[in-house]
Order: sequence, then C-alpha cells, then structure tokens
Amino acid sequence: MTNKTNQWSATHIPDLTGRTAVVTGANSGIGLPAVDALARAGAHVVLAVRDPRRGEAAAATVSGARGTVEVRPLDLADLASVRRFADEWQGDLDLLINNAGVMNVPEGTTKDGFETQFGTNHLGHFALTNLLLPHVTDRVVTVSSNVHKVGRARIHFENLKLTGEYNPVTAYAQSKLANLLFTLELQRRLGLAGSPVRATAAHPGLSSTNLANHGANALYRAVARLANRLLAQDSEAGSLPTLYAAVMDLPGASYVGPDGLGEWRGGPTLVGRSPQASDPEAASRLWTVSEELTGVTFPEHLSPTTEPTTENNQRGAITR
Ligand SMILES: NC(=O)c1ccc[n+]([C@@H]2O[C@H](COP(=O)([O-])OP(=O)(O)OC[C@H]3O[C@@H](n4cnc5c(N)ncnc54)[C@H](OP(=O)(O)O)[C@@H]3O)[C@@H](O)[C@H]2O)c1
Repeated sequence: MTNKTNQWSATHIPDLTGRTAVVTGANSGIGLPAVDALARAGAHVVLAVRDPRRGEAAAATVSGARGTVEVRPLDLADLASVRRFADEWQGDLDLLINNAGVMNVPEGTTKDGFETQFGTNHLGHFALTNLLLPHVTDRVVTVSSNVHKVGRARIHFENLKLTGEYNPVTAYAQSKLANLLFTLELQRRLGLAGSPVRATAAHPGLSSTNLANHGANALYRAVARLANRLLAQDSEAGSLPTLYAAVMDLPGASYVGPDGLGEWRGGPTLVGRSPQASDPEAASRLWTVSEELTGVTFPEHLSPTTEPTTENNQRGAITR
C-alpha cells in the first residue's frame, strides 16, 4: 500500500531545453532515472561519476531524449578530483544535483583523511557546491535521507570521525543530517546575498538501488536486500522527490520526500525534518567546520551583506 496522493511524475517536468544539469553519482540507483528524466525534458545533463566506464554504460541507456548527456569524472572522496571537476566547468549550470552517496560502509577514510560517509556524502558535496556556485543559476538539490531522524542523530562536532565509537549507521545518519543542515545554511547565505539561486533537499523514501550493497554488516546487507525486494519502490519513483525539488517553484530550503505511509513510498511532496535538522546554530557551525576542513569557502561575491530577503528566505519552508 502506498497511500500515494500526489500523481506528479517526470512527465510534469517543464521544458528544460537550453538548460544544463549536473547529477552526481548518476550511473546507478535514483541518479540514473533523474538523468533520463532531465534529458527527456530537453536538458544537457552531465553524469558526474567516479568510474567513467560505468558512467558511459549508464549514459548509453538514455535514448530518445530531446536533450543530451555527457560523462565527467568526479570522486567526491577526493578533494583534488572535486577541484578538477569544478575548475574545468565553463558556462552556466542551472541545476546541481548532489545525489551521490555511500551508506553504512566499514570504518575508513577518504583520500583527504575524512570519515568515509561524512567525507563523501557531505564534505565532497560541500566543496563541489561552493566551487561551482559562481556558475549556478537556479537550484542546488541535495539528497538526504530519513535516516537523519534515526535515534539521536547529531553532528559529532567533538569527534567527526567517530574515532573509538564508529558505528556505520551513526556515521550515515550524521552525514545525512549534514546534508540537511548544509541546505539550510546554504539557503540562508543565498538569501542574505539576494541570490535567485535556491537550495532544496530531497529523500527518495525506500528505493531499490545499489546503496545497501556496500554495508559493513552481512546481516544488515541481507535485510536490506529483502527490504528492497518486498518494500521498496523502484528507482524511477525514488528519483521523483529529487526532480520535484529541482524543478518545482518551492521556497528555499524545502525538503521533498514521498507522501506515503512513513514516507517510504509515494508521490513527491514537502515533508518534515527533525529538530536537529532545523537548528540554524548547528547549520552555521557545520558550515564553518566544513570550510576549515575542505579549504573551500562560500564565494566572495555572494558573501552576506544585507538582511535576508523575505521571498528567498528558508524560514517559511521548514516543516517538522
Ligand atoms: N535507496 C534508498 O532507499 C535511499 C534512501 C534514502 C536516501 N538515499 C540517498 O540517495 C542517494 C543515491 O543513492 P542510491 O540509493 O541511488 O544508491 P546507489 O545506487 O548506490 O547510488 C549511489 C551513487 O553514488 C555514487 N558514489 C558513491 N561514492 C562516490 C564518490 N566517492 N564519488 C562519486 N560518486 C560516488 C555511486 O557510484 P558507484 O556506482 O561508483 O558506486 C553511485 O552512482 C544517496 O545520497 C543516498 O544516501 C537512498
């Protein structure tokens, strides 16, 4: 049973002819149907992937679209790769979709020594977004998860790597909470700068993808595979909240997810977030820490000078 009330689908995406989108982690899961839908609507879509060979194979599945697709290498677990991707960017970027992610992986670090999930899911996208922001014209969508609400999920500012207390689920929840706090603070900064760019977030509910295949625990992987078979919606349905957050006229900092029971499945709608994900002080602190860790800062030309505009402020968009 889906309890689905919103029949919005990819066919409702407006004409995107002449527009450009980047989708990170676009070679599988919910990223690939998002690429397909944006290209069908006429956009030029860049698949930003860590394995260009798999990226090309994925791009080849997009056929009969009015728009075009292109593959470029991006490893979010390597800041040098993130910088290369951004340095090579030329021209406008209308939609940046921060979709890539790893979940519940064994304890480890990225190339720059960050905890793998925080480093990939949050810091990689943090750096990518700020480096590309001078090109962005319309929207930054970041894919979070309802796992951000699990237990007492929080940002472990005192021990971001969770050294000595590593738990794969805690680390994933921290990274997905960071995705929402990042969106909140990014929107606040864009609002202060009077920028027309909006930051939104989305989650796909429970969607059948490769995400659980790399989990640290064999029992968990087996349960996740069963849940994928029995409960999950397909990746196409899972991509709809992302697409809705990318193209609909929503207030900044909106969070979109499925409208069914428990937000597991269903059509895209505005959904609530945890109090921890609505905390402006944590969002600001995370931003400062992320700037220090990555060495990437909010673009100077957008640096806050005035009070936020009422139209483009995040406050009205938060629902819990
Ligand atoms: N599926 C769900 O039920 C669910 C629920 C809540 C949230 N989400 C979120 O949805 C997003 C997409 O996940 P998915 O479910 O579609 O899983 P997926 O099929 O595993 O896709 C994840 C994508 O991220 C890419 N990726 C991983 N590490 C990367 C890195 N270092 N650099 C660049 N790309 C990297 C993967 O590339 P490779 O193919 O090379 O591994 C893959 O293309 C994630 O942010 C996830 O947290 C999913």
